[in-house]
Amino acid sequence: MTAEAGRLWGGRFTEEPDEAAWRLGRSVHFDVRLWPHDLAGSRAHADELLRIDVLSDDDHRDIVGALDAIGEEFRFGTFRFSEGDEDLHGAIERRLVELCGAVGGRLRAGRSRNDQICSDLRLYLRDAVGGILVGVRGVQSALAQKAEAVLDWLAPGYTHLQRAQPVVLGHHLLAHAWALDRDAGRFADCRSRLDVSTLGAGALAGTTLPLDPAAYAAALGFARVAENSMDAVADRDFAVEFLAAAALLGVHLSRLGEEVVLWSSAEFGWARVGDAFSTGSSIMPQKRNPDVAELVRGKTGRLIGDLVSLLVTLKGLPLTYNRDLQEDKEPVFDAVDTLALALPAMAGTVASLVFDRDRLAATAAGGFALATDVAEALVRAGVPFRTAHERVGALVSDCERAGVELAAAAPDVLRAALPELDAGALPGLLDPQSAVARRAATLGPDPARVQAQLDRLRRRLVPRGG
Ligand code: ARG
Repeated sequence: MTAEAGRLWGGRFTEEPDEAAWRLGRSVHFDVRLWPHDLAGSRAHADELLRIDVLSDDDHRDIVGALDAIGEEFRFGTFRFSEGDEDLHGAIERRLVELCGAVGGRLRAGRSRNDQICSDLRLYLRDAVGGILVGVRGVQSALAQKAEAVLDWLAPGYTHLQRAQPVVLGHHLLAHAWALDRDAGRFADCRSRLDVSTLGAGALAGTTLPLDPAAYAAALGFARVAENSMDAVADRDFAVEFLAAAALLGVHLSRLGEEVVLWSSAEFGWARVGDAFSTGSSIMPQKRNPDVAELVRGKTGRLIGDLVSLLVTLKGLPLTYNRDLQEDKEPVFDAVDTLALALPAMAGTVASLVFDRDRLAATAAGGFALATDVAEALVRAGVPFRTAHERVGALVSDCERAGVELAAAAPDVLRAALPELDAGALPGLLDPQSAVARRAATLGPDPARVQAQLDRLRRRLVPRGG
């Protein structure tokens, strides 16, 4: 590699870097995606250098013109990295000097790659969060739309993957949408906390040049300026917060994906995933596999890995910048890319689901799903819940032995077990449709409440400035 290459630190060295060392440290193949942010920071810096007379008007014009030209090269894919470019910052400076001569070497005054890179990454994430929020809202909208279509369809609700109590399908689908709503909140929160300008921190201790940190913040649209130059260059909390939000979002998508896989099995028989979101088998002609839901579930492993990877990188680093921090970018980019794939695929999968109303209704009432309702009816008739639970449990056990559901139990058995209850009230008590409506006063699946819940969710999905 040659001295004029995009290496920013050759002066005190007499030997060229070792090939393996160079390859280990090189980051252009991944930090290239920060180019718009790096150039924005450089323009702001050129303006500051002009203000403090480190650049003349001519220098400034040449440098900004060259930065614009470099931006065009990146945009049109014509920017060529050279073998000697170590990272994006070096590559851009190398190109700047090629385009405008020695004056290009003036731009580095008063800044360091240390304050530059964390500024770039904050700018990148500020944009990326906007895209992820659109994706999250997309999955929520698909859930809301599906919930509306099947709002009052009866479905069995589960705990321990055992049938527990009947619900309506709209309630079940919206449960996933609310988890995603918290994810959206976490990303928005992360975005507001990362909205901090770090330029002016220099390598770690600022600079003797009278550069104004607030001017960078204003130029780059940051809400605040970092308080402490050492914290500014050492801090990657914003990337951890982003990855934590991404990992938890991944967990939610994975849980939804897992349910889609279950629902589409013959054993559940709840739903069919649309052709466009299913695949066949290369050997078994009859197969119809919910691969998209499985892949989203599978991708969550990498999202969790990305978070753990950065946490482990940070643990034990002394202040301030350490080269380990170069390892922050690939997990962040991987999480952004993974979510960019997973979110629309999951939205499409949900939208493609066709539920089997009869199958759902048939299973909603089974498995003694209304035993709790019967016990609560006894409570309303004055029986202590502990006793009611005991008695209904024994009744269920008798019915199980007789191979019948509660509704089909012999009238004398019912009368003996539930003397406080009016026999005429029993059919209503054991009807799942009435059972969901009985939950109107609580957080449960009463269809009217589910409709109100859906309306509240919909209001949250209206975009409010990204
Ligand atoms: N490529 C480096 C990174 O991503 C930029 C900062 C390098 N700073 C340094 N002192 N070597 O972290």
